[in-house]
Amino acid sequence: MGHVISQLPRSTDPDLLVGTNTADDAAVYRLTDDLALVQSVDFFTPVVDDPYDFGRIAAANSLSDIYAMGATPLIALNIVGFPVDVLPIEQLVEILRGGADVARQAGMTIVGGHTIDDREPKYGLAVTGTVRPGSQVTNATARPGDSLVLTKPLGTGIIATAIKRGTAGTAAVEEATEVMATLNRDASLAALANGVTSMTDITGFGLLGHLLEMCKGSGVSAEIWVDALPWLRDARSLAEEGVVPGGTRRNLAFVEPDVEWVDDLPEYERLLLADAQTSGGLLIAVPSDRAEALIADLRGRGTPAAALVGRVGLVGERAISVRRGPAPGSS
Ligand code: CO
Repeated sequence: MGHVISQLPRSTDPDLLVGTNTADDAAVYRLTDDLALVQSVDFFTPVVDDPYDFGRIAAANSLSDIYAMGATPLIALNIVGFPVDVLPIEQLVEILRGGADVARQAGMTIVGGHTIDDREPKYGLAVTGTVRPGSQVTNATARPGDSLVLTKPLGTGIIATAIKRGTAGTAAVEEATEVMATLNRDASLAALANGVTSMTDITGFGLLGHLLEMCKGSGVSAEIWVDALPWLRDARSLAEEGVVPGGTRRNLAFVEPDVEWVDDLPEYERLLLADAQTSGGLLIAVPSDRAEALIADLRGRGTPAAALVGRVGLVGERAISVRRGPAPGSS
């Protein structure tokens, strides 16, 4: 929604510390000198067949923007669409149970919500969190020389498409489900403990789309190393077979004017880099001398991935350059 929201009138309220000016993850509103509200909302249609897992994934995804800001979630409201006369009500109960279980993991309470009759199920949360004013981490403060670290493997859009087509393998579905249902809380805590300069969560615009927002917001460029990226099981082979969602193709078309392909990549690999993610990991920028400690901390906390995937540079002709690995002499 960032692209549309940015066309609306901007607020001039001085207590709005983070709003729509920099396609950021959540809004931050100062209540007192010590306390700011962090607000975020997200919901979507099922990406997996199991209603309980869908509820877990949707809730983890809704909390992701809060963690990307370095904030702490407090309470949330359910947002539900459900075909009341078509599907058994037990499925709705399972969706909400999945959401409640993930909320509990996050130390947060779901305090209510709203359900409408809808042809296709939809679920998500409106989350309220808090942060100390000035301590929020945005996607607009990366600095040249920073390292880029990714905390979940990529490819959920491709796996979800294989699920819809009935061609996904059981092991791939199980892995993707657990990765999507994993909170970004531990990744966020590790980032905060290791000198994060900027971060964002990887969701609908894919790795390249969210990185582009970080580059534009921060006034920097970035380099991505394809061979360093972590992938979900089967994601690469499915992409090579053409199992690619429409959103991923749109993402690639959107970012390509800002991307220099330094090494020649086949189209399926370019699509993999743009794959629209559901409940993806955090992309964390840290000073390069902190990257090793951050990765060790992420591993210690058991995040689904802890990969050094690129670095931030001075603003260049193109915002993003994609290489197989680090440019010679650059790291
Ligand atoms: Co986000």
